[in-house]
Amino acid sequence: MLQDKINALIEEVNHIEIRDAESLESFRLRFISRKGEMSSLFEEFKQVPSEAKRELGQLMNALKQAAEEKLKSSSKALDRERDALAASAIDVTLPSTSETLGSLHPISIVRNEIVRIFERIGFNLSEGPEIESDWYNFTALNFAENHPAREMQDTFFVARHPDTVLRTHTSPVQIRAMEKQSPPIRTLSVGRVYRNETISARSHCMFHQIEGLYVDKNVSFADLKQTLLHFAEAFFGKGTKIRLRPSYFPFTEPSAEMDVYLGTDTPSNYQLTKGTGWLEVLGCGMVHPNVLKNVNIDPEVYSGFAFGLGLERITMRRYGIKDIRNLTENDARFLRQFAGAI
Ligand code: DAH
Repeated sequence: MLQDKINALIEEVNHIEIRDAESLESFRLRFISRKGEMSSLFEEFKQVPSEAKRELGQLMNALKQAAEEKLKSSSKALDRERDALAASAIDVTLPSTSETLGSLHPISIVRNEIVRIFERIGFNLSEGPEIESDWYNFTALNFAENHPAREMQDTFFVARHPDTVLRTHTSPVQIRAMEKQSPPIRTLSVGRVYRNETISARSHCMFHQIEGLYVDKNVSFADLKQTLLHFAEAFFGKGTKIRLRPSYFPFTEPSAEMDVYLGTDTPSNYQLTKGTGWLEVLGCGMVHPNVLKNVNIDPEVYSGFAFGLGLERITMRRYGIKDIRNLTENDARFLRQFAGAI
């Protein structure tokens, strides 16, 4: 029956899947072109009695429409697919975009250099938190309860009673290191410290320190002096002269400050050393027996030395940075100047 044949073809057209240009073309040849299914249907149609022609004619039209719609929608879908593929394709002839490499911060460059100097003579690294208890920041370091030294360091308090502070120096890491390790201890700690100071070109409320600690049997002031001389020569250059001036810190006895001799031959060295040639670099001393007792190390058996230095001033000197605020403003033009350093 012609009617069944047409219905079957309509069914086929509706369900056929057209996935590529080739099947689209064979679909077109079979259902649309004059030489396809249609022409043989017309041959049969001619034989149909005239009273049935009207109904069958409509059915043939429906088949024709279904086939044309299928062709249109499939060809559109294929076009869309092709465009999407083209859009996502990689054009290998395009020049590559270069990645911008970051650079180490000048403070990091100087820190790395100092850490390497001390690592070579057997120091390891210790860490401590930036939010410290009063015990670690002051009491264990032999600051007396109402000692003016607590006021000397303009402390940021996070909470009171019990006091929690932003550490004012890296010395609390000494205590943490001695709690964790037993002598011989040779350790360095690096980090941020905070003091409630007015921010200006020369001072900031946040800066960096490096702390050194050596505890063993028979550690003497001569060992301290030799270690510091080694550091000064490694960092400031061979032949650098140092001098130790008596000073006071609650956690060391005796205490000293170390200056290095830069000379006055360049205007910046003259200015930096206020015409003396000497630059103050660090505080140091022999670990106070009370500090050793606070971490259960017997001061009759062991002795130690410690030192602490600020990173900002020597970093600014090295790179000719005039304003300490450049170090924290994250201006890419400033930071880019340090690209390539390790
Ligand atoms: N903590 C001291 C400060 O911030 C620096 C210092 C001095 C550290 C003497 C030491 C030291 O370890 O022995 O001013």
